[in-house]
Amino acid sequence: MLKGKNIIIGITGGIAVYKVCDIVSKLVKLHANVDVIMTKNATEFVSPLTFESLSHNPVVTDMFNRTKEWEIEHISFAKKAHTFVIVPATANIIGKLAQGIADDMLTTTLLATKSPVIIAPAMNTDMYTNHVFQSNLATLHNNGAIIVQPATGRLACGDNGVGKLADVDVILSTIIDTVMPQRDLLGRRVLITAGATIEKIDAVRYISNFSTGKMGIALAKNARDRGAIVTLVLGSHSVPAPDYMDVVNVTTTQQMYDEVLARVKDNDIIIKSAAPCDYKVEHYADTKHKEEHLTLSLVKNPDIARQVGKIKDNRILVVFSAETENTCENAYAKLQSKNADLVVANCVLTEGAGFGTDTNIVTLIDRYNTQTALPIMSKEQVASRILDAVVKLTQ
Ligand SMILES: Cc1cc2nc3c(=O)[nH]c(=O)nc-3n(C[C@H](O)[C@H](O)[C@H](O)COP(=O)(O)O)c2cc1C
Repeated sequence: MLKGKNIIIGITGGIAVYKVCDIVSKLVKLHANVDVIMTKNATEFVSPLTFESLSHNPVVTDMFNRTKEWEIEHISFAKKAHTFVIVPATANIIGKLAQGIADDMLTTTLLATKSPVIIAPAMNTDMYTNHVFQSNLATLHNNGAIIVQPATGRLACGDNGVGKLADVDVILSTIIDTVMPQRDLLGRRVLITAGATIEKIDAVRYISNFSTGKMGIALAKNARDRGAIVTLVLGSHSVPAPDYMDVVNVTTTQQMYDEVLARVKDNDIIIKSAAPCDYKVEHYADTKHKEEHLTLSLVKNPDIARQVGKIKDNRILVVFSAETENTCENAYAKLQSKNADLVVANCVLTEGAGFGTDTNIVTLIDRYNTQTALPIMSKEQVASRILDAVVKLTQ
Protein backbone atom coordinates (compact mmCIF):
# COMPACT_ATOMS: atom_id res chain seq x y z
CA MET A 1 0.00 0.00 0.00
CA LEU A 2 2.75 2.49 0.92
CA LYS A 3 5.41 1.04 -1.38
CA GLY A 4 7.85 3.72 -2.50
CA LYS A 5 6.74 6.17 0.21
CA ASN A 6 9.39 7.62 2.52
CA ILE A 7 8.05 8.40 5.93
CA ILE A 8 10.27 10.06 8.50
CA ILE A 9 9.24 9.50 12.09
CA GLY A 10 10.66 12.07 14.52
CA ILE A 11 10.50 10.80 18.08
CA THR A 12 10.85 13.11 21.06
CA GLY A 13 11.21 12.49 24.77
CA GLY A 14 7.74 11.70 26.07
CA ILE A 15 6.39 8.75 27.98
CA ALA A 16 4.35 7.68 24.92
CA VAL A 17 7.48 6.77 22.91
CA TYR A 18 6.78 3.06 23.34
CA LYS A 19 3.54 3.45 21.34
CA VAL A 20 5.56 4.51 18.30
CA CYS A 21 6.93 0.93 18.05
CA ASP A 22 3.47 -0.13 16.89
CA ILE A 23 3.22 2.75 14.41
CA VAL A 24 6.62 1.99 12.84
CA SER A 25 5.87 -1.71 12.69
CA LYS A 26 2.51 -1.13 10.98
CA LEU A 27 3.97 1.31 8.45
CA VAL A 28 6.67 -1.21 7.54
CA LYS A 29 4.02 -3.90 7.11
CA LEU A 30 2.31 -1.52 4.68
CA HIS A 31 5.64 -1.46 2.76
CA ALA A 32 6.60 2.13 3.60
CA ASN A 33 10.26 3.02 3.90
CA VAL A 34 10.52 4.35 7.43
CA ASP A 35 13.45 6.41 8.74
CA VAL A 36 13.50 7.27 12.41
CA ILE A 37 15.15 10.31 13.93
CA MET A 38 15.20 10.38 17.73
CA THR A 39 16.08 13.26 19.99
CA LYS A 40 18.66 12.48 22.67
CA ASN A 41 15.91 12.63 25.29
CA ALA A 42 13.74 10.17 23.36
CA THR A 43 16.52 7.56 23.58
CA GLU A 44 16.11 7.66 27.38
CA PHE A 45 12.68 6.05 26.94
CA VAL A 46 13.24 3.40 24.24
CA SER A 47 16.53 2.31 22.73
CA PRO A 48 17.23 3.25 19.08
CA LEU A 49 17.93 -0.46 18.55
CA THR A 50 14.20 -1.18 18.91
CA PHE A 51 13.36 1.24 16.10
CA GLU A 52 16.27 0.01 13.98
CA SER A 53 14.90 -3.51 14.23
CA LEU A 54 11.35 -2.43 13.46
CA SER A 55 12.16 -0.02 10.61
CA HIS A 56 15.05 -2.06 9.12
CA ASN A 57 16.92 1.24 8.82
CA PRO A 58 19.60 2.89 10.95
CA VAL A 59 18.15 5.31 13.49
CA VAL A 60 19.62 8.81 13.52
CA THR A 61 20.19 10.42 16.88
CA ASP A 62 23.28 12.53 16.31
CA MET A 63 23.79 15.51 14.03
CA PHE A 64 27.54 14.99 13.84
CA ASN A 65 27.81 11.23 13.45
CA ARG A 66 30.82 10.57 11.19
CA THR A 67 30.36 6.87 10.63
CA LYS A 68 27.82 7.17 7.78
CA GLU A 69 28.54 7.58 4.06
CA TRP A 70 29.23 11.13 3.01
CA GLU A 71 26.03 13.04 2.60
CA ILE A 72 24.46 15.92 4.42
CA GLU A 73 21.99 13.70 6.15
CA HIS A 74 19.49 16.24 7.43
CA ILE A 75 19.08 17.72 3.95
CA SER A 76 18.75 14.32 2.23
CA PHE A 77 16.14 13.21 4.79
CA ALA A 78 14.28 16.49 4.40
CA LYS A 79 14.21 16.08 0.62
CA LYS A 80 13.22 12.43 0.43
CA ALA A 81 10.35 12.62 2.94
CA HIS A 82 6.86 12.16 1.54
CA THR A 83 5.66 12.97 5.00
CA PHE A 84 7.26 13.82 8.30
CA VAL A 85 5.60 12.72 11.53
CA ILE A 86 6.57 13.89 15.01
CA VAL A 87 5.23 11.38 17.47
CA PRO A 88 5.04 11.79 20.37
CA ALA A 89 5.63 15.53 20.08
CA THR A 90 6.81 17.07 23.35
CA ALA A 91 5.98 20.60 24.44
CA ASN A 92 9.68 21.25 23.93
CA ILE A 93 9.82 20.30 20.21
CA ILE A 94 6.61 22.20 19.49
CA GLY A 95 8.08 25.30 21.14
CA LYS A 96 11.33 24.93 19.21
CA LEU A 97 9.61 24.45 15.86
CA ALA A 98 7.32 27.40 16.44
CA GLN A 99 10.44 29.55 16.94
CA GLY A 100 12.48 28.06 14.10
CA ILE A 101 15.13 26.64 16.40
CA ALA A 102 17.42 24.05 14.79
CA ASP A 103 19.72 22.71 17.48
CA ASP A 104 19.67 18.97 16.82
CA MET A 105 19.15 16.51 13.96
CA LEU A 106 15.36 16.43 14.26
CA THR A 107 14.72 20.18 14.43
CA THR A 108 17.28 20.88 11.70
CA THR A 109 15.74 18.33 9.32
CA LEU A 110 12.24 19.61 10.04
CA LEU A 111 13.27 23.15 9.23
CA ALA A 112 14.61 21.96 5.87
CA THR A 113 11.70 19.80 4.78
CA LYS A 114 9.01 20.79 2.31
CA SER A 115 6.96 17.64 2.95
CA PRO A 116 3.71 17.70 4.93
CA VAL A 117 4.40 17.62 8.68
CA ILE A 118 2.13 15.71 11.05
CA ILE A 119 2.40 16.49 14.74
CA ALA A 120 0.94 14.20 17.42
CA PRO A 121 1.39 15.98 20.77
CA ALA A 122 1.33 14.10 24.07
CA MET A 123 1.89 15.58 27.49
CA ASN A 124 0.43 16.34 30.90
CA THR A 125 -2.87 18.26 30.78
CA ASP A 126 -1.48 21.38 32.46
CA MET A 127 1.39 21.47 29.97
CA TYR A 128 -1.05 20.99 27.08
CA THR A 129 -3.45 23.70 28.19
CA ASN A 130 -0.66 26.17 29.02
CA HIS A 131 -1.30 29.26 26.90
CA VAL A 132 2.32 29.56 25.71
CA PHE A 133 2.20 25.97 24.50
CA GLN A 134 -1.20 26.52 22.84
CA SER A 135 0.11 29.59 21.07
CA ASN A 136 3.13 27.57 19.77
CA LEU A 137 0.81 24.81 18.58
CA ALA A 138 -1.41 27.37 16.82
CA THR A 139 1.68 28.79 15.08
CA LEU A 140 2.55 25.35 13.69
CA HIS A 141 -1.06 24.76 12.66
CA ASN A 142 -1.16 28.14 10.90
CA ASN A 143 2.09 27.25 9.13
CA GLY A 144 0.39 24.18 7.63
CA ALA A 145 1.27 21.38 10.06
CA ILE A 146 -1.37 18.69 10.50
CA ILE A 147 -2.10 18.34 14.20
CA VAL A 148 -3.41 14.98 15.45
CA GLN A 149 -5.41 16.08 18.49
CA PRO A 150 -4.49 14.29 21.71
CA ALA A 151 -7.11 12.19 23.45
CA THR A 152 -8.58 12.73 26.90
CA GLY A 153 -8.15 10.11 29.57
CA ARG A 154 -5.89 8.88 32.33
CA LEU A 155 -2.34 10.08 31.75
CA ALA A 156 0.89 8.32 32.72
CA CYS A 157 1.44 10.91 35.48
CA GLY A 158 -1.86 9.84 37.09
CA ASP A 159 -3.85 12.94 36.08
CA ASN A 160 -7.06 12.69 34.12
CA GLY A 161 -7.53 15.06 31.20
CA VAL A 162 -6.48 16.05 27.73
CA GLY A 163 -2.94 15.29 26.53
CA LYS A 164 -2.91 11.52 25.97
CA LEU A 165 -1.32 10.53 22.65
CA ALA A 166 -4.03 10.00 20.02
CA ASP A 167 -4.91 6.42 19.22
CA VAL A 168 -2.29 4.65 17.09
CA ASP A 169 -4.87 3.92 14.37
CA VAL A 170 -5.89 7.58 14.22
CA ILE A 171 -2.25 8.58 13.73
CA LEU A 172 -1.78 5.86 11.11
CA SER A 173 -4.82 6.88 9.10
CA THR A 174 -3.68 10.52 9.21
CA ILE A 175 -0.33 9.41 7.79
CA ILE A 176 -1.97 7.29 5.09
CA ASP A 177 -4.40 10.07 4.13
CA THR A 178 -1.46 12.46 3.79
CA VAL A 179 0.78 10.15 1.80
CA MET A 180 -1.81 8.66 -0.54
CA PRO A 181 -3.11 11.36 -2.86
CA GLN A 182 -5.94 9.34 -4.38
CA ARG A 183 -8.52 8.78 -1.65
CA ASP A 184 -11.61 8.95 -3.80
CA LEU A 185 -13.17 5.83 -2.25
CA LEU A 186 -12.63 6.99 1.32
CA GLY A 187 -15.13 5.31 3.63
CA ARG A 188 -16.91 3.49 0.76
CA ARG A 189 -17.69 -0.14 1.45
CA VAL A 190 -16.58 -2.36 -1.40
CA LEU A 191 -17.26 -6.08 -1.72
CA ILE A 192 -15.01 -7.87 -4.19
CA THR A 193 -14.97 -11.52 -5.23
CA ALA A 194 -11.81 -13.08 -6.60
CA GLY A 195 -10.29 -16.41 -7.58
CA ALA A 196 -11.80 -19.66 -8.71
CA THR A 197 -14.28 -21.86 -6.92
CA ILE A 198 -13.84 -25.61 -6.60
CA GLU A 199 -16.50 -28.30 -6.97
CA LYS A 200 -15.79 -31.78 -5.67
CA ILE A 201 -16.03 -34.82 -7.95
CA ASP A 202 -15.02 -37.32 -5.30
CA ALA A 203 -12.75 -37.56 -2.26
CA VAL A 204 -9.63 -36.58 -4.26
CA ARG A 205 -10.76 -34.85 -7.48
CA TYR A 206 -12.45 -31.60 -8.32
CA ILE A 207 -13.59 -29.29 -11.11
CA SER A 208 -12.28 -25.73 -11.20
CA ASN A 209 -10.93 -23.20 -13.71
CA PHE A 210 -7.75 -21.29 -14.51
CA SER A 211 -8.47 -18.16 -12.46
CA THR A 212 -5.53 -17.18 -10.21
CA GLY A 213 -7.29 -14.38 -8.35
CA LYS A 214 -4.72 -11.81 -9.57
CA MET A 215 -7.25 -9.42 -11.08
CA GLY A 216 -9.60 -9.42 -8.08
CA ILE A 217 -6.75 -9.10 -5.60
CA ALA A 218 -5.34 -6.15 -7.59
CA LEU A 219 -8.80 -4.55 -7.43
CA ALA A 220 -9.07 -5.17 -3.69
CA LYS A 221 -5.66 -3.59 -3.03
CA ASN A 222 -6.41 -0.59 -5.24
CA ALA A 223 -9.80 -0.01 -3.56
CA ARG A 224 -8.18 -0.30 -0.13
CA ASP A 225 -5.42 2.16 -1.11
CA ARG A 226 -8.08 4.63 -2.24
CA GLY A 227 -9.63 4.56 1.21
CA ALA A 228 -12.37 1.95 0.76
CA ILE A 229 -13.35 -0.53 3.46
CA VAL A 230 -12.88 -3.72 1.50
CA THR A 231 -14.31 -7.19 1.97
CA LEU A 232 -12.73 -9.79 -0.30
CA VAL A 233 -14.61 -13.03 -0.82
CA LEU A 234 -11.78 -15.20 -2.04
CA GLY A 235 -11.85 -18.57 -3.73
CA SER A 236 -8.83 -20.57 -4.83
CA HIS A 237 -5.92 -18.22 -5.65
CA SER A 238 -2.24 -18.44 -6.44
CA VAL A 239 -1.07 -15.00 -5.32
CA PRO A 240 -0.96 -13.95 -1.65
CA ALA A 241 -4.16 -12.57 -0.13
CA PRO A 242 -3.78 -8.87 0.68
CA ASP A 243 -3.49 -7.28 4.14
CA TYR A 244 -5.71 -4.73 5.80
CA MET A 245 -9.07 -5.93 4.63
CA ASP A 246 -11.63 -8.51 5.61
CA VAL A 247 -10.85 -11.68 3.66
CA VAL A 248 -13.57 -14.35 3.58
CA ASN A 249 -12.22 -17.62 2.20
CA VAL A 250 -14.60 -19.86 0.29
CA THR A 251 -14.32 -23.07 -1.70
CA THR A 252 -17.51 -23.73 -3.64
CA THR A 253 -19.77 -21.47 -5.69
CA GLN A 254 -22.59 -22.06 -3.21
CA GLN A 255 -20.35 -20.81 -0.40
CA MET A 256 -19.34 -17.76 -2.45
CA TYR A 257 -23.02 -17.11 -3.18
CA ASP A 258 -23.95 -17.33 0.51
CA GLU A 259 -21.09 -15.10 1.69
CA VAL A 260 -21.73 -12.47 -0.99
CA LEU A 261 -25.49 -12.38 -0.61
CA ALA A 262 -25.14 -12.03 3.17
CA ARG A 263 -23.04 -8.90 2.65
CA VAL A 264 -24.67 -7.05 -0.25
CA LYS A 265 -26.71 -4.78 2.02
CA ASP A 266 -23.59 -3.68 3.96
CA ASN A 267 -21.74 -2.53 0.85
CA ASP A 268 -21.98 0.35 -1.64
CA ILE A 269 -20.08 -1.27 -4.48
CA ILE A 270 -19.96 -4.95 -5.46
CA ILE A 271 -17.33 -6.13 -7.91
CA LYS A 272 -17.66 -9.68 -9.17
CA SER A 273 -14.22 -10.52 -10.49
CA ALA A 274 -14.13 -14.14 -9.34
CA ALA A 275 -14.55 -17.06 -11.70
CA PRO A 276 -17.08 -19.24 -9.89
CA CYS A 277 -17.78 -22.63 -11.45
CA ASP A 278 -21.08 -22.46 -13.29
CA TYR A 279 -21.65 -26.16 -12.72
CA LYS A 280 -21.20 -28.61 -9.90
CA VAL A 281 -21.33 -32.38 -9.83
CA GLU A 282 -24.85 -33.48 -9.02
CA HIS A 283 -23.80 -36.27 -6.64
CA TYR A 284 -20.16 -36.20 -5.61
CA ALA A 285 -18.69 -39.30 -4.04
CA ASP A 286 -17.19 -39.38 -0.55
CA THR A 287 -14.78 -42.08 -1.70
CA LYS A 288 -12.58 -42.28 -4.80
CA HIS A 289 -14.20 -43.18 -8.11
CA LYS A 290 -12.67 -46.36 -9.58
CA GLU A 291 -15.10 -47.10 -12.41
CA GLU A 292 -13.73 -47.89 -15.88
CA HIS A 293 -16.20 -45.48 -17.48
CA LEU A 294 -17.36 -42.55 -15.44
CA THR A 295 -20.15 -40.22 -16.44
CA LEU A 296 -20.61 -37.10 -14.36
CA SER A 297 -23.92 -35.36 -14.21
CA LEU A 298 -23.44 -31.62 -13.75
CA VAL A 299 -26.06 -29.22 -12.46
CA LYS A 300 -26.08 -25.42 -12.57
CA ASN A 301 -24.73 -23.50 -9.62
CA PRO A 302 -26.60 -20.42 -8.39
CA ASP A 303 -25.86 -17.25 -10.41
CA ILE A 304 -24.30 -14.85 -7.90
CA ALA A 305 -24.22 -11.76 -10.13
CA ARG A 306 -27.83 -12.18 -11.24
CA GLN A 307 -29.04 -12.46 -7.65
CA VAL A 308 -26.97 -9.43 -6.56
CA GLY A 309 -28.43 -7.51 -9.53
CA LYS A 310 -31.94 -8.32 -8.33
CA ILE A 311 -31.47 -6.94 -4.81
CA LYS A 312 -28.84 -4.27 -5.30
CA ASP A 313 -31.09 -1.14 -5.33
CA ASN A 314 -28.76 1.86 -5.84
CA ARG A 315 -25.57 -0.07 -5.22
CA ILE A 316 -23.07 -0.30 -8.03
CA LEU A 317 -22.52 -3.73 -9.50
CA VAL A 318 -19.50 -4.48 -11.67
CA VAL A 319 -19.25 -7.79 -13.49
CA PHE A 320 -16.55 -9.39 -15.61
CA SER A 321 -17.22 -11.05 -18.90
CA ALA A 322 -14.54 -13.41 -20.21
CA GLU A 323 -15.47 -14.09 -23.82
CA THR A 324 -14.00 -16.02 -26.72
CA GLU A 325 -15.95 -14.26 -29.52
CA ASN A 326 -18.16 -11.16 -30.04
CA THR A 327 -16.62 -9.85 -26.83
CA CYS A 328 -18.33 -6.47 -26.46
CA GLU A 329 -21.71 -7.64 -27.73
CA ASN A 330 -21.81 -10.61 -25.36
CA ALA A 331 -20.45 -8.56 -22.47
CA TYR A 332 -23.12 -5.88 -22.86
CA ALA A 333 -25.81 -8.54 -22.99
CA LYS A 334 -24.39 -9.92 -19.74
CA LEU A 335 -24.48 -6.47 -18.14
CA GLN A 336 -28.16 -6.13 -19.05
CA SER A 337 -29.12 -9.60 -17.93
CA LYS A 338 -27.47 -9.11 -14.52
CA ASN A 339 -28.69 -5.53 -14.02
CA ALA A 340 -25.03 -4.48 -13.65
CA ASP A 341 -23.67 -0.93 -13.98
CA LEU A 342 -20.33 -1.75 -15.55
CA VAL A 343 -18.95 -4.78 -17.33
CA VAL A 344 -15.27 -5.48 -17.78
CA ALA A 345 -15.03 -7.38 -21.06
CA ASN A 346 -12.08 -9.31 -22.27
CA CYS A 347 -11.38 -11.86 -24.93
CA VAL A 348 -9.49 -14.61 -23.13
CA LEU A 349 -8.07 -15.91 -26.42
CA THR A 350 -6.06 -12.70 -26.97
CA GLU A 351 -2.42 -12.95 -25.97
CA GLY A 352 -1.78 -10.92 -22.78
CA ALA A 353 -5.40 -11.11 -21.61
CA GLY A 354 -7.34 -13.34 -19.25
CA PHE A 355 -6.46 -16.00 -16.72
CA GLY A 356 -3.05 -16.39 -15.17
CA THR A 357 -1.29 -13.58 -17.06
CA ASP A 358 0.16 -10.51 -15.34
CA THR A 359 -1.48 -8.29 -17.94
CA ASN A 360 -4.96 -7.83 -19.27
CA ILE A 361 -6.64 -6.20 -22.27
CA VAL A 362 -10.14 -5.10 -21.42
CA THR A 363 -12.97 -2.94 -22.62
CA LEU A 364 -15.07 -1.17 -20.01
CA ILE A 365 -18.74 -0.94 -20.94
CA ASP A 366 -21.27 0.97 -18.87
CA ARG A 367 -25.04 0.60 -18.75
CA TYR A 368 -25.44 3.12 -21.61
CA ASN A 369 -23.17 0.92 -23.74
CA THR A 370 -20.38 3.50 -23.66
CA GLN A 371 -17.28 1.49 -24.49
CA THR A 372 -13.74 2.33 -23.37
CA ALA A 373 -11.15 0.00 -24.90
CA LEU A 374 -7.95 -0.06 -22.85
CA PRO A 375 -4.57 -1.07 -24.25
CA ILE A 376 -2.59 -3.96 -22.76
CA MET A 377 -1.62 -3.07 -19.21
CA SER A 378 -0.74 -4.71 -15.91
CA LYS A 379 -3.62 -6.04 -13.83
CA GLU A 380 -2.78 -3.36 -11.24
CA GLN A 381 -3.25 -0.65 -13.89
CA VAL A 382 -6.45 -2.27 -15.13
CA ALA A 383 -7.71 -2.35 -11.52
CA SER A 384 -7.02 1.35 -11.20
CA ARG A 385 -8.88 2.15 -14.44
CA ILE A 386 -11.87 0.03 -13.40
CA LEU A 387 -12.08 1.85 -10.08
CA ASP A 388 -11.74 5.23 -11.85
CA ALA A 389 -14.84 4.23 -13.83
CA VAL A 390 -16.61 3.08 -10.64
CA VAL A 391 -15.82 6.39 -8.93
CA LYS A 392 -17.33 8.22 -11.93
CA LEU A 393 -20.50 6.14 -11.57
CA THR A 394 -20.78 7.15 -7.91
CA GLN A 395 -20.62 10.89 -8.69
C1 LIG B 1 9.50 10.32 32.67
C2 LIG B 1 9.32 11.53 31.80
C3 LIG B 1 8.22 11.63 30.98
C4 LIG B 1 8.02 12.75 30.18
N1 LIG B 1 6.95 12.81 29.36
C5 LIG B 1 6.74 13.91 28.63
C6 LIG B 1 5.61 13.99 27.78
O1 LIG B 1 4.80 13.08 27.71
N2 LIG B 1 5.45 15.12 27.05
C7 LIG B 1 6.32 16.15 27.08
O2 LIG B 1 6.10 17.16 26.40
N3 LIG B 1 7.41 16.08 27.86
C8 LIG B 1 7.65 15.01 28.62
N4 LIG B 1 8.76 14.93 29.41
C9 LIG B 1 9.70 16.07 29.43
C10 LIG B 1 10.60 16.01 28.21
O3 LIG B 1 11.34 14.81 28.21
C11 LIG B 1 11.53 17.23 28.24
O4 LIG B 1 10.77 18.41 28.03
C12 LIG B 1 12.62 17.14 27.22
O5 LIG B 1 13.37 18.34 27.25
C13 LIG B 1 12.10 16.90 25.80
O6 LIG B 1 13.16 16.87 24.89
P1 LIG B 1 12.97 16.61 23.34
O7 LIG B 1 11.77 17.37 22.92
O8 LIG B 1 14.22 17.10 22.72
O9 LIG B 1 12.84 15.12 23.18
C14 LIG B 1 8.98 13.83 30.22
C15 LIG B 1 10.09 13.70 31.03
C16 LIG B 1 10.27 12.58 31.82
C17 LIG B 1 11.47 12.49 32.69
